[in-house]
Amino acid sequence: MDPRTVMEFENSEDFARRLDADDPLVHFRSRFHVPHQTGSEVLYFTGNSLGLMPKTAADYVIQELRDWEQLGVEGHVRASHPWLPYHEFLTSQMATIIGAKPIETVVMNSLTVNLHVLMVSFYRPTAERYKIVIEKGAFPSDQYAVKSQIAFHALSTAGTQNSLIELIPRAGESTLRTEDILETIEREGDSIAIVLLGGVNYYTGQAFEMKAIAEAGHKAGATVGFDLAHAAGNLELHMHDWDVDFAAWCSYKYLNGGPGAVAAAFIHERHATSFDLPRFAGWWGHDKETRFLMGPDFKPIPGAEGWQISNPPILQMAALRASLEIFEEAGMPALVDKSRKLTGYLEYLLDGINDDRISVVTPRDPERRGCQLSIRVKDSGRSLHEKIVAHGVSADWREPDVIRVAPVPLYNTYADVFNFAEILKECLK
Ligand SMILES: Cc1ncc(COP(=O)(O)O)c(C=O)c1O
Repeated sequence: MDPRTVMEFENSEDFARRLDADDPLVHFRSRFHVPHQTGSEVLYFTGNSLGLMPKTAADYVIQELRDWEQLGVEGHVRASHPWLPYHEFLTSQMATIIGAKPIETVVMNSLTVNLHVLMVSFYRPTAERYKIVIEKGAFPSDQYAVKSQIAFHALSTAGTQNSLIELIPRAGESTLRTEDILETIEREGDSIAIVLLGGVNYYTGQAFEMKAIAEAGHKAGATVGFDLAHAAGNLELHMHDWDVDFAAWCSYKYLNGGPGAVAAAFIHERHATSFDLPRFAGWWGHDKETRFLMGPDFKPIPGAEGWQISNPPILQMAALRASLEIFEEAGMPALVDKSRKLTGYLEYLLDGINDDRISVVTPRDPERRGCQLSIRVKDSGRSLHEKIVAHGVSADWREPDVIRVAPVPLYNTYADVFNFAEILKECLK
């Protein structure tokens, strides 16, 4: 039997409203501020870019400002949430979201910075094993990070020609086949130092088979990392059980941490005490008991915390704390459950438009995607995007030909999805 749930949908506003009435998560929408355009709520489908603001975020940030106002430096120990261990207040909720243990998870820095920090430890090219496997269409920042790491090592390591293996979909296809990814890893075997893929591709919305990729990478003797920017808070993840070595992700997308929000990193428990791994050290990664003895020698904290460099941005973390509390209440399994249905409904309605100028490039298999659908538009895609925006839709345009639409289960409704499809149909006329 096909493990996918077969859902019966109807193309009517009444049906969408009934789905909303039956949705056990529907009340979470009221916990977020939804932007307005000309007096009405925007149909917000850009949570894959910047998640909505939890209503509690302002109070949480203001609380820290008040503590700063009233306590000054004493806030490090006397604030209602003391600043010294502040990042720890986020650890266990963040770990749960990506299927990790607290010792494997730390909230710190920003995403590309974390990719670099982790590659310092996990990209250790040798003359024989020096290649990095990425997606050809990886997010540009990842491509720049990886290429600059290769260039950085070329200064001291021989044999780094052709160090980048870029995975490309087959001719006429938009997404990568798992079998092709695994075959490349097997073929390049001994020459691969790390496999570094996105959990979900930002452009196509394809979710990769991370467990199988981690297994194949390890079999080849490589280290395996993931950029979870589009996966954290979107898919059910099991970073620990899938045996991934490291991961990094931002928290301004599905995790609703706010613009430029503080990012996070996962480092598998088996590396927790790998103190021989090179790392760019800083005092926040140093043993907590002796940090303030101000000694000259770095003693890393076991686990992911040992990769911290600087003391953390409290105001950003306060905003993120507001959102992670909501995630804890809702729970990833329930969110993913709704997400499949919500995005399945969007797919059904798009199919019903039946216009050959638009096609969905995201995989149809719910296991191989998150909430985002990427709609490829033939010819005047940009002007179609401008038209839907003028109708109160927030969706984004990605060059060269895609409109990304991400119904987020925490705050989008089936009625949002229905209204979007109606607007799209109208704008295609
Ligand atoms: C997949 C992916 N990687 C990296 C980045 C860059 O993130 P940052 O600017 O936080 O380093 C983004 C930003 O959207 C992204 O989507």
